[in-house]
This record gives sequence, structure tokens and C-alpha cells, in this order.
Amino acid sequence: MFNLEVNQDIYRNAFSSLEKEMKQAVDDLHNKVGNAGKYLGWLDLPEEISEMQLQDISRTAEYLRTNSKCIVIVGIGGSYLGSRAVISALEDSAFACGDSHPHIIYAGHHLSEDYYCSLMKYLDRVDYSIIVISKSGTTVEPAVAFRLLKSHCEQKYGADKARKRIVCITDNKKGALRTLANKLGYLTYDIPDNIGGRFSVLSPVGLLPIAVAGLDIYSLVNGAKVMYKQLIETHANIASRYALCRNYLLKQGYNIEVLSSFDPQLHFMIEWWKQLFGESEGKDGKGIFPVGMIYTTDLHSMGQYMQDGQRIFFETFLSVEKTGKQCKVPYKGDNIDELNFLAGKRIGEINEAARQATILAHQQGEVPVIQITIDTLNEYNVGQLVYFFEYACVISASILGVNPFDQPGVEAYKNNMFALLNKPGYEEKYKQIKQDLSKI
Ligand code: PA5
Repeated sequence: MFNLEVNQDIYRNAFSSLEKEMKQAVDDLHNKVGNAGKYLGWLDLPEEISEMQLQDISRTAEYLRTNSKCIVIVGIGGSYLGSRAVISALEDSAFACGDSHPHIIYAGHHLSEDYYCSLMKYLDRVDYSIIVISKSGTTVEPAVAFRLLKSHCEQKYGADKARKRIVCITDNKKGALRTLANKLGYLTYDIPDNIGGRFSVLSPVGLLPIAVAGLDIYSLVNGAKVMYKQLIETHANIASRYALCRNYLLKQGYNIEVLSSFDPQLHFMIEWWKQLFGESEGKDGKGIFPVGMIYTTDLHSMGQYMQDGQRIFFETFLSVEKTGKQCKVPYKGDNIDELNFLAGKRIGEINEAARQATILAHQQGEVPVIQITIDTLNEYNVGQLVYFFEYACVISASILGVNPFDQPGVEAYKNNMFALLNKPGYEEKYKQIKQDLSKI
């Protein structure tokens, strides 16, 4: 079950004000025209990815799983967030880590020296493999992490054995990682030219780490395929309706979208959604600012603002109807903690009451609400969710009038950083930056 629910008035108004733009965006996407042009490889991916490719990915995952107590996934942004979102939504729980599947550790998504020192100390003690993912093959954070980890791995196992513990996922021709992988004979998977980082979850970029975590990639892709078939049937599909409403709400002055969930396992799904929409839409001085909340935790911090602060945001609740497991509040004869009114109730029931109570309270506090609901957390539903958001993001960006597939703004910090680190070719920029910094 996958459901989108929007207040009838919001939908009616959104439809009458942006129907033309929404239909045009859907036509452009389905006909593969407009600024979407050459980056639409993700669109038919669930249909096009073959049984043979899935089998191959599963075999590699099985090989890595049997040889390693720990797998380090190296990547940043779109090259890592999608798999992390799916894995943390579906892995049994943080407590089971390392029992049923190797301990999955992430690297290359920041530049914390302390983190890398601790990580390598840990890797001294366990057998591990590395999956390094970078489409460009030149992004500094994963490249630096890979240099450290590759050296560690070679020292620990020797160059020959280390080679069998490293898999690279990158462009099939370009980039330093491709050159290195070809030279050293690493096993590689290609990232197709027409699939951008944040749209790559259903390619080897996401599927190999997800399979390594012991999850069912066939079911994940199948869920995406079913969503794909549903969406391409009609203009006013659920994803374009979501895109339409968020653009309408933006026009009404709601500049922020808060994606809220009562399931902490969805924390990284929200992080991925933030990246998907933030990097795709936040450009040319436009875009909805994406924010995430995990309830009930954040009800005790941001809950006050959500209920009572400036009315500048709308809220999308990402809800899961049924829990996978059951845990009931016990009855206590003495009732000293005065909780017997909850005795016999499942934690999920209490969470559901909190969810309904919050949606009602926020609506009554004049927060426009959208609801996306799945019945349970499994690979099939998460595959649907991933595809739904990818599709909705492209339609939404198109209605907004921006190109969802570039990220020119990311270059500004990179250029400054390269200059500060004396990268060859940045000598002039270095002088200018030093001057600019002295004025801050
Ligand atoms: O979505 C994107 O395109 C970006 O977030 C990239 O994935 C990120 O910058 C990492 O790039 P690369 O895979 O080239 O290392």
C-alpha cells in the first residue's frame, strides 16, 4: 500500500493554479525533452535493469559478505545517501549489526580526522572490504578516504589480497578512480552517463551496498518498477500531485517543507530526500528549503516551533502503518509510575496515537499538511518510495523552472578549498581568497 493524502482545498487550488505547468512537466519527462534531456537514465531504470545485472550484483555482494566482518562504503552525496537510506530503513536494527550481515561503515562523506583515525584503528582488528563510489572519480572527500583505506588495506593484506577486497563504482571511462581501478585491476561497476548521483539508488551505486547489507534487491527494484508503471500511466499521478501541491504551497509563501516521520529508521531516508530535493531545486534563487524531523524526539525540541512559531513551512508526514515487531507495555500492580492506562498497549499503538495527535495539532496550528503513507517497511515499499520521490522531484523542479540535474552551487566551496590547499592551477584564486578572508 502506498498512499498520498492532501487536503482537498489545497489540491483543488493547486490544480487550478498550476495544472498547465504540471501537465507540461509530465509530458516533458515522459517524452524525455526539455532540460531533463540527457540525465533521464533513472526514469526507465527499474524496467531496464536486467535479471543478469541483479544476479551479478548479488554474487559480488555474497562474495564480499563471506570474506568480511565489515564493509566500508566510501562515497558522498548521491553516491552514498541513497544506499544508507535504504539500509538504515530496513536493516533489522542497530542492535543486530554484525550478526546477520557484515558491519556496514560509511566513509568519504566528511573530512573528520578523528573519525578516520578511529576507523583505521577499528579496521586493524576486523576483516574488511571496501566499496568506493564516485561518479566523477575526483571528489575530494571520498578520494582522500579511499587513499587512506586503500593504503591500510594493502598494508594489512598485501597488494594482491587487498585487490580482491576492493570494488569501485564509477564512470566507465573518465576520472581518476576509473584510471586507478583499470591500472590496479579492481572489480568495477559502471555508473551510466545518463544517471546523476542523487538519482542513482537503483543502479549499482545503491544496489551493491544494499545487497551487501543482506537486503533483497530484487524486491526493491520490483517495488520501483510497480511505482514506475503506475506513474507513467497518467498526468495527475500521485508523484505529480505531490509536486504540484508543494509548488502551490511555495507560491502561498510556505518556503520550507518539513518531512516528518515517527520512525527513526527513516532518518537517513529523510537525509536522502533533503539531498534529492535540496540539490535539485535550490538554484537560481529558487526552491523550497527541505528540512527533516523525527518524532516524537523532535516534538520535545522543534515541536514548540512547529506548533506555534512563524507559519513559513508546510509539513509532509512520511508514515508507516504497521510495525514489523511487537512490544507491549507491561501491567504493574503498584502502578507507582501511573502508567497502567497504557498497560497491554503496543509501543506502536502509542506511537500511532502520537502521530494522529501531532497531525491534528499541527493542522489546527495552521500548518498545511501532506501525508505519504506506506503500510510497512520492506524492500518492495521502500523501492516504491525511492522511485516516487525521484519522479516527484523532477516534476517539481520542472514546475519551478529549474534544471534538477545540475548543482553549479556546489563548486563555490570546492574552488575556495582547492585554492586554500594549494592545488596546482589555483595560484591566483589563492591570493584573492587570502584577501577576501582577511576582510571577514
Ligand atoms: O547528487 C549528486 O550529483 C552529488 O551529490 C554527487 O553524488 C556527489 O557530489 C558525489 O559526486 P561523485 O559521485 O562524483 O563523487
